[in-house]
Amino acid sequence: MIELDDLTVTFDDFTAIADVDLRIEPEEFVTIVGPSGCGKTTLLRAVGGLQEPTAGRVRIDDRVPAAAQEAGDIGFVFQQHTLFPWKSALENVVFLRTMADKSPKREKAHALLRSMGLDGFEEARPSQLSGGMKQRVAIARALHLGADVLLMDEPFGELDEITRDELGAEIRSLWRQERKTIVFVTHSVPEAVFLGERCVVMRDQPGRIEATFDIDLPTPRDTDVFGSRAFQEQVAAVRQTLHESYE
Ligand SMILES: Nc1ncnc2c1ncn2[C@@H]1O[C@H](COP(=O)(O)OP(=O)(O)O)[C@@H](O)[C@H]1O
Ligand SMILES: [Mg+2]
Repeated sequence: MIELDDLTVTFDDFTAIADVDLRIEPEEFVTIVGPSGCGKTTLLRAVGGLQEPTAGRVRIDDRVPAAAQEAGDIGFVFQQHTLFPWKSALENVVFLRTMADKSPKREKAHALLRSMGLDGFEEARPSQLSGGMKQRVAIARALHLGADVLLMDEPFGELDEITRDELGAEIRSLWRQERKTIVFVTHSVPEAVFLGERCVVMRDQPGRIEATFDIDLPTPRDTDVFGSRAFQEQVAAVRQTLHESYE
């Protein structure tokens, strides 16, 4: 379980996030949505042990995040893919496990690349791949690490809308297959509703949790959901909360 208690992060005299309380159960898929600058990245970095809390605390299965991260139990996927340009797709996928002192499993890496639609691109360098393909490699890499917790910070931010939707549906099915805990940050309300089982809405100045929505949509979920009334109503409800917090 991921536990945030009164988490506060300040930079000099600027409070980026204040008094955030949140519990995330194992195998949950939680999305965090809010406007730019409301502290989503800061929150995610604190969960991943990349940002020290100023006050309050974070625990991942009763450990400090840095310990969980060192044990290779947290996988990150960022907006920028952070692949090594000189390594092939396959080597990029395998390398993180080696860094975390876990044995590389090439068969599993091949299988993950296949399941991400990258069959035949194992030897390609990042520069030979499209933006969507690079993010697929980054996701395969995070999954290959074998971490139970995946932290994703606007991973589809630079992709076109069609690719975003497709990758979103793939992430949903990977989440079900691999039984990961996923915390997914986005500024897109439809994306947050489509992906999450639960959607946390943040507001800014200082960054904090405004509301949490249990998303009531079918599982498995594919892009057909976008046309449904239930989807549109929940998107409208989240939007309204976001706008109300600015009145
Ligand atoms: N290292 C830092 N030093 C100073 N200010 C920061 C730092 N990181 C983030 N901030 C500020 O904290 C606020 C929240 O940033 P961030 O978490 O990146 O927001 P989001 O991801 O929601 O866009 C912003 O106002 C940003 O300028
Ligand atoms: Mg951010």
